[in-house]
Amino acid sequence: MSVTLITGASSGIGAELARQLAAAGEDLALCARRTDRLDDLRTEILAAQPGRRVEVRALDVTDDAAVFAVFRAFAADFGTIDRVVVNAGLGKGAPVGTGRFDANRATAYTNVIGALAQTEAATELFRAQKRGHLVLISSMSAMRGMPKKVTVYAATKAFVAHLGEGIRGELLGEPGLDIDVSVILPGYIRSEMNDKVKKPMPFMVDTVTGTRAIAAAIQARKPYARVPAWPWRPMGTAMRHLPLKVVRRLT
Ligand SMILES: NC(=O)c1ccc[n+]([C@@H]2O[C@H](COP(=O)([O-])OP(=O)(O)OC[C@H]3O[C@@H](n4cnc5c(N)ncnc54)[C@H](OP(=O)(O)O)[C@@H]3O)[C@@H](O)[C@H]2O)c1
Repeated sequence: MSVTLITGASSGIGAELARQLAAAGEDLALCARRTDRLDDLRTEILAAQPGRRVEVRALDVTDDAAVFAVFRAFAADFGTIDRVVVNAGLGKGAPVGTGRFDANRATAYTNVIGALAQTEAATELFRAQKRGHLVLISSMSAMRGMPKKVTVYAATKAFVAHLGEGIRGELLGEPGLDIDVSVILPGYIRSEMNDKVKKPMPFMVDTVTGTRAIAAAIQARKPYARVPAWPWRPMGTAMRHLPLKVVRRLT
């Protein structure tokens, strides 16, 4: 039996990942701020997979103390947590210097400090267990600096990707620990984060399809995955080298 903790499980990728991992036989610890959504999701998953165990808790990832308390409470519920998916994220933003520091700050706080708190709490649990799988949801936007509303969001996702790689490097020097780190960089996947964007987004896939690619990379414990592989694997390589005036058109 394997237990996966998913943050930001009340909508989009997090909720769909919960469905797909439960169908694959995993038990779940789910959290987010909207607990009514989590309760509904729990009911839905248990109706489809009656053998599974699903626990839910309220969590605002910008509340540092709550992140540690909730992760420890889930660990106490299940005895062990095999995997943590740091998925909660915010996509608010405005071009830098246009008077919306509030929106950019909220995104930076949630996606950087919130992700760091989750990662600290998860890695503490894994160090105590001497095993575990840390999954960080970054974004293809982390590949390069991005213009418009996405500048701060993309920078936060670059932080997340480097955080994961740094921890993986740290753990390489600690042979007694069996802890894997996966950094996942999704391309455009339909979710609440982008459902109000009117402009067509390149290579957008629906939530189920996109999450299937994420789940496969997680289950394969890939250290680093751009998903869906087509077109985002080659696109990532191109993004690294293309001139900024071309890259900026991706947003
Ligand atoms: N969709 C895409 O195209 C795409 C692409 C690349 C990466 N991603 C990443 O995928 C992850 C999931 O996003 P999504 O696309 O599924 O968007 P979404 O539908 O908006 O889901 C975001 C989730 O994060 C949670 N969340 C936001 N702020 C939170 C906070 N302060 N505390 C706790 N939970 C919080 C939300 O739950 P509550 O509001 O209930 O708290 C919600 O469950 C994010 O990290 C996002 O950056 C998405």
